[in-house]
Amino acid sequence: MFVRNAWYIAAWTKEVTRVGAFTRTLLGQPVVMFRRRDGTPVAMHDRCPHRFAPLSCGKVNGDTIQCAYHGMTFSDTGRCVSNPTQPDDKIPRAARVETYPVVERHNMIWIWLGDPDRADPEDIPDYYQYDHPDWASDGGHLLVNANYQLLTDNLLDLTHIAFVHADILGNPHVAKQSETQTDVGDRSVVERRIIRDGPAVPAWRLAFDDYDGNVDLWMDMHWEAGANMILDVGVTPTGKARDDGIAIFGLDCLTPETATSTHYFFGAAHKYRSQEPAVTSFWMKALEYAFNQDKAIVEAVQSRMQGEWDILKMNPVVNKADHAAIQARRIVQRLIDEEEQHPPHNDCPAATAPAIQAET
Ligand code: FES
Ligand SMILES: [Fe+2]
Repeated sequence: MFVRNAWYIAAWTKEVTRVGAFTRTLLGQPVVMFRRRDGTPVAMHDRCPHRFAPLSCGKVNGDTIQCAYHGMTFSDTGRCVSNPTQPDDKIPRAARVETYPVVERHNMIWIWLGDPDRADPEDIPDYYQYDHPDWASDGGHLLVNANYQLLTDNLLDLTHIAFVHADILGNPHVAKQSETQTDVGDRSVVERRIIRDGPAVPAWRLAFDDYDGNVDLWMDMHWEAGANMILDVGVTPTGKARDDGIAIFGLDCLTPETATSTHYFFGAAHKYRSQEPAVTSFWMKALEYAFNQDKAIVEAVQSRMQGEWDILKMNPVVNKADHAAIQARRIVQRLIDEEEQHPPHNDCPAATAPAIQAET
C-alpha cells in the first residue's frame, strides 16, 4: 500500500527541537526523532525492545535516549549502551532498536523507511525555495483521516478548486476554462494547467493588490513518488509573461500515517515581496483554510469507502481530469510491485541504517 523505497517528510525542522523527543507514525511505523548534541536529527523505531514502551516517553541525554520504563539506554545507532536493572548492566544481544536514514534539507527532515542500502540523498526532491535567501517560506502540517492517494488524486486534479474552494481559490471562470498538459516520467508526473483571461480568484485578487484586471492563472503540479508534490502557481496580467505576475511554490507533501490517515505537509514559498513576513503569513493562512476544505471533502470520501483504502477497487467513474492522478497511481503500484519482488536482503529485524551525513 506504500512505496517504502522513497524519501518522505517526517517533520519540519522546527518541529524537532533539542528539548526532548518527538514522535510520529509514518508508513504505519511509530518513529521517534530527537537531535544529537551537534543538532543533527536521529530517527528510530519508537518502541523499546524490552517491554515495548514508546521510547518517545523517555529522556534524551546527549546523543542517547533512555526508556522511561526500566531505563535501558540506546545510542543514536540504536545500540543498547546501558541496562541498569540487569546484574552487571548486562546487555542482551537483541537489545537494539532499528534506526532510519534521515537527512535535514530545506527546513524539512526527510526519512527513508525502505531498504537502507538504497537510501540516496540525491533522490530527495529539490525544494530549494524553502531555504533560499531570495525566497521567504513557511510550512504547516495537517493530519487527514484518509488514504494518501485520495489526497494525491485531489492535488493532481485541480478542477475541484472551483467547487471545494469556491470562496478562496475558485470562481465561475476557472470552472469552465482550462488547458492541461500531462508529462509522465519513471517516478514523476507533471500536470500543467492554465486558465486564461479571467478575473483573479479571491486569494490571488487579494495578493495581486496593485492590479485588478483579468489574469492568466497557471498551476503546474509536480508529483514525485511516493507522494511529494510542489505546485508552481501564479497569476499574470492576461497575455503577459509569468515574470510580470506573482507566484508561489506551494508544497504539498504527503506522508502516509496508516492506510487511512495521512500527514499533509504544506507550505508556501514566494520570491515576490520576500522581505514582507505579512505576505508569507497571508499565504499560510489562505492555504491552511483551503486545505482544511480539502481535508473535509477527502475525509468524507474516505468515510464512503467503508473501510476500503483503494478507490480503484471500487470502480469509480473516471473523468478526463483524473488522467494525471491515474498515471501517478500506476507508478505507485509499479514501484510497490517491484519492492515486493525484490525485498531487502536483511535477516536482522533491528538493522541499523547506514550513516548519512545530515545537512543543516
Ligand atoms: S520497556 Fe524499555 S526498558 Fe523496559
Ligand atoms: Fe484543494
